[in-house]
Amino acid sequence: MAYPYQIASLLQYHEFYKKSVEDPEGFWGEVAENFQWRRKWDSVINWNFKEPKIEWFKGAKLNITENCIDRHLPAKAGEPAIIWEPNNPEERTRVVTYARLHKRVCQFAQVLKNNGVKKGDRVCIYMGMVPELAYAVLGCARIGAIHSVIFGGFSAQSIADRLEDAQATFIVTCDGAYRGNKDIPLKSVIDDALIGNKIVKKVIVYTRTRTPVSMIKGRDVWWEDEMEYAETQVEKEGVVSFPAEEMDAEDPLFILYTSGSTGKPKGVVHTCGGYMVWTNYTFVNVFQYKPGDVHFCTADIGWITGHSYIVYGPLSAGATSLMFEGIPTWPDAGRFWEITEKHKVNILYTAPTAIRSLMGFGEQPIQGKDISSLNTLGTVGEPINEEAWHWYDEHIGKKTCPIVDTWWQTETGGILISNLAGVTLSKPGWATLPLPGVQPVIVDENGKEVTEKDEDGMIKGNLCIKAPWPGILRTTYGDHERCRLNYFATYENLYFTGDGCMKDEDGNYRITGRVDDVLNVSGHRIGTAEVENAINMHTGVVESAVVGYPHDIKGQGIYAYVIYNGRMQDMDQIRKDVNQTVSRIIGPIAKPDKIQFVSGLPKTRSGKIMRRILRKIAEGEVSNLGDTSTLLDPAVVDEIKNGKI
Ligand code: WTA
Repeated sequence: MAYPYQIASLLQYHEFYKKSVEDPEGFWGEVAENFQWRRKWDSVINWNFKEPKIEWFKGAKLNITENCIDRHLPAKAGEPAIIWEPNNPEERTRVVTYARLHKRVCQFAQVLKNNGVKKGDRVCIYMGMVPELAYAVLGCARIGAIHSVIFGGFSAQSIADRLEDAQATFIVTCDGAYRGNKDIPLKSVIDDALIGNKIVKKVIVYTRTRTPVSMIKGRDVWWEDEMEYAETQVEKEGVVSFPAEEMDAEDPLFILYTSGSTGKPKGVVHTCGGYMVWTNYTFVNVFQYKPGDVHFCTADIGWITGHSYIVYGPLSAGATSLMFEGIPTWPDAGRFWEITEKHKVNILYTAPTAIRSLMGFGEQPIQGKDISSLNTLGTVGEPINEEAWHWYDEHIGKKTCPIVDTWWQTETGGILISNLAGVTLSKPGWATLPLPGVQPVIVDENGKEVTEKDEDGMIKGNLCIKAPWPGILRTTYGDHERCRLNYFATYENLYFTGDGCMKDEDGNYRITGRVDDVLNVSGHRIGTAEVENAINMHTGVVESAVVGYPHDIKGQGIYAYVIYNGRMQDMDQIRKDVNQTVSRIIGPIAKPDKIQFVSGLPKTRSGKIMRRILRKIAEGEVSNLGDTSTLLDPAVVDEIKNGKI
């Protein structure tokens, strides 16, 4: 069998699960034998959630790129590692074989070295979805530099904050990126982010759109020039090599910034050994990958889903990963199906927001496209509503493809709760069962495990995890205390996910959404405090409060209540200015969908904003607002209700 640790039946799932809980050392030690280590571990796991201190495969040495590339050679030299589909369907597809991937990653690792990048340095990557982005990520991993990929929808200010937090000294970017009919000027955003920055030494610029860019002597270099020169260094008489840096299993692999309930994004840190084992294990098991299958994950590599299920999970499994530059609705809403037909995609992994948006176009865009190669479908990023689940099942899976509903987070590195395609049962809207090694527990506000079912037979509460799995975050960059406070301090000895959840009699889990002040807009995580901070930067704004509300396509929309006392003019114009401010401070992805101007916000006598009330009003539930008598100024609630948009 290609993957000896691939779970083959429901019975085996239960057997493996039991072993993983009773003997985690034995279980994960055995799984880890299937990877290439330069040196094996001294101990499989050491941990406590108090500090927290979590170490997997301590003492082991490896380089993740040897697992993602070298070990598949020469057997898979001619097989596609990455199939790249451009934004514009008229443009040529690129197929990157494992041999080619090896060459490009070696070359780029050499480029980094030539430019002075060393093990442990932080390299910020801000690129569109081109194969070069994967080369950049893997090139960093090859020399042991810590990559920090930033999604193309973030603004210069956001990048500047992240550069500062990570003390990044190098940047890899593109002149621009194509997305649908847009051409996003990435280099120009980087230039803005670098105003006043004194620590970035080099910016490597890949040409994609050939939009005019400023190139500063001594700082900015062209990817193409650098790669050409590096080629002469890594290739000798037709043999390509670049020695991979030997990394400790617990050395950081990357930082990925994500939003929490505070105003400042956190740099989630994942390490080499555990993350590799976890992404590979979950990829192989959840999707039931078979060698030769084409896996199409539609996420952007700027998010964790792209890191884990376009790059590290699939490549470490020697799989074929399809990478798409564009968006599902351009040039028309049939794009995914055209790609599926063209590349004979077997596994499609996407987000509920994409499914809902495509559902809105009806079945016409699917007609005439042969999507019969599909054998597995997946969803991630937010709860999937039953209507979207059934549409996906009926019109895309033709009722023959299992749908895996995968629940996980940036912090978890890979999937924690999901059915396994065709192996365990699916249930529409339910993530179902935990993967081996994952021990969920549902607690009440006080951290006490909920054991009583409520009237509909469900156990409901906040979702925590009892013990670490190999892919759990290790810290938040530069601030370990923050990591402890955010995830390990709410409830003693538990990792708190921030999600609400329910469990049925068969032990299936359904994730109901965030219980903290984090929104999930089109599958993108955004903190309400972050958006409020940005709105408050607008000159005329006194104060604001941001909540989520149900949105047909995006899952959640952003609703902002704003107290404004600036110069009075057309209020629509001010709305646009506020949006523009948010775009500048965070990025276009955080722009509020609705802005309501108010004269005051409902506050308790101690000055705390009563978000519960604002959330209800935004949701349209105006009749049942609960007790408002403790408010400082109850009258403000009526005004807000009447002004709802
Ligand atoms: C939500 C994305 C319901 C959840 C991988 C989580 C989900 C947050 C699901 C993490 C799912 C993710 N069902 N909710 N299958 N998958 N979520 O860090 O609220 O971008 O806490 O990671 O997305 O978002 P993040």
